[in-house]
Amino acid sequence: MADDWQLALLNEQVDGARVLDCAQRCRDYVMMEAGREPDALWVTGFFNDIPPERTKDDILMLGIERPDGSLIGLLGMSPGYETQTEWYIGLLVVTENERGAGIGARVVSEVINLAKASGAQTLRLSVFGRNPDALRFWEANGFYQDRVVGDDLVLVRQI
Ligand SMILES: CC(C)(COP(=O)(O)OP(=O)(O)OC[C@H]1O[C@@H](n2cnc3c(N)ncnc32)[C@H](O)[C@@H]1OP(=O)(O)O)[C@@H](O)C(=O)NCCC(=O)NCCS
Repeated sequence: MADDWQLALLNEQVDGARVLDCAQRCRDYVMMEAGREPDALWVTGFFNDIPPERTKDDILMLGIERPDGSLIGLLGMSPGYETQTEWYIGLLVVTENERGAGIGARVVSEVINLAKASGAQTLRLSVFGRNPDALRFWEANGFYQDRVVGDDLVLVRQI
């Protein structure tokens, strides 16, 4: 069952409702990140999490999709950010009841394959200092601390 998913490209107009449904099952993370219940505004923010000086065409919003179309997680990335040979992971979240089963680690290896195939050499992301569980996850998956920005840790991984 744990392998019974695929990464699917998401579109704001078409997939907004199932992203909201998924966000509601990731409530703990949304509350920590946004400080409020998952809602339509959070979904809009997910689809518009665009790095500085980039456009919507530069980001990749994916769902971790079960065969029945339900989403058990979300993945937001910016290929080619911060540099041409980097991919920036803006968000990886798995629904609360699916965590700890290896899905996150397998998503990371799929991201590595995709990024490598496009010529990237590094993955980069930022983790809240108040999210030690996530830090443990990223470190277990080969990421290490590059710098500290305010309350956040910037992590990188060579691929
Ligand atoms: C971090 C996250 C994406 C990992 O996905 P996952 O499918 O649970 O990951 P895996 O099953 O491959 O790995 C489990 C490891 O992740 C870590 N982990 C972090 N949060 C966890 C949680 N709530 N439940 C279980 N494991 C968690 C643990 O180190 C665990 O290893 P352990 O079992 O040896 O303790 C997922 O736990 C999650 O969505 N967390 C909330 C959102 C978040 O913090 N995202 C990162 C933003 S930078």
